[in-house]
Amino acid sequence: MADILTAWELIEKLNEEKRLSLNEFTCLLENRNSVDREKLFAKARENAKAYFGNTIYLRGLIEIGNYCRNDCLYCGIRRSNCKAERYRLTEKQIMNACVNGHRLGYRTFVLQGGEDLYFTAGKLADIIKSIKEAFPDSAVTLSVGERSTEDYQMWYDAGADRYLLRHETADEEHYGKLHPPELSLKHRIECLYTLKKIGYQVGAGFMVGSPYQTTENIAKDLVFLRELEPHMIGIGPFIPHKDTPFAKETAGSLELTLFLLAVIRIMLPDVLLPATTALGTIAPDGREKGILAGANVIMPNLSPKDVRKKYMLYDNKLCTDDEAAEQKAKLDKRVESIGYRTVTDRGDSPKCKASTLVCPKRL
Ligand code: 5AD
Repeated sequence: MADILTAWELIEKLNEEKRLSLNEFTCLLENRNSVDREKLFAKARENAKAYFGNTIYLRGLIEIGNYCRNDCLYCGIRRSNCKAERYRLTEKQIMNACVNGHRLGYRTFVLQGGEDLYFTAGKLADIIKSIKEAFPDSAVTLSVGERSTEDYQMWYDAGADRYLLRHETADEEHYGKLHPPELSLKHRIECLYTLKKIGYQVGAGFMVGSPYQTTENIAKDLVFLRELEPHMIGIGPFIPHKDTPFAKETAGSLELTLFLLAVIRIMLPDVLLPATTALGTIAPDGREKGILAGANVIMPNLSPKDVRKKYMLYDNKLCTDDEAAEQKAKLDKRVESIGYRTVTDRGDSPKCKASTLVCPKRL
């Protein structure tokens, strides 16, 4: 019989071999209280430093619209939330947000929105082209959900570089408890592999502490991420939204989110790992703590001020002045105060840079 490893020995094994089995991850999560957090976070930072030094990448987030055809039980912009005040940005508003962001130094624009077929493939392709034409030095990241292979291809051909599509949970049964029956984990995962095949830098991820989530579910998420090997991983605590079926559920914890950030950093040292807005929402210094646990990306909000409150995925979403991209100097200071520095170059995945010769980049 194999030796039973302590939680810290499992961390050391993960650090050496960059993978653990499903059972080992479960065991690590169950026994995580015995892990010295300072030691764990130091190991995570060491892994991040090997690839990124002390740099923190900034991405400007533009929330292009909150209409959504889906009805995910956790999400504040689900279609049956009739209290959500719906909006869509015009191409001009999106361009203005980019102009503003570019002036501040941002070189990645993340266009995020609900699944809204108003943004036809052609319409979004035109917007992507305009952004790339005006800012050829900048990366465009899309985060607009599940669409056809043709749509994804058209946007890539228009110049989009990256795509964020959290898998939400890698367990079929758990997926069913968070989503309406017309959505499937299988299709979501197919989308992720399609995006990767097209050539996007891809981001996956999940919520920490979502309703019905078990330790084994999280272990499955980790095994799935190891297998997919995305360029980016977005994880943040689940936070209830008052006008959803999960209004009365408890939020995910800071403790578990930080633990998972560190584990993910140790497992995939070159991954781009944001300290998410949700993390900054459950704790005032959540994002600093996230960086100290291995995160290396922050995504400040570049959306026009009047729509920020409408893009409410969960209650109390951070949209104060500190969150605003205009407050970049403040943000820089906060990052510097913990020994890091923000950079505003495109910050492509190191994986991608290494493979530019094999995988021709559009000119
Ligand atoms: N709490 C935390 N994160 C949420 N998201 C959606 N609703 C919530 C919530 N209530 C996350 C999902 C989605 C991303 C854009 O926001 O993981 O993929």
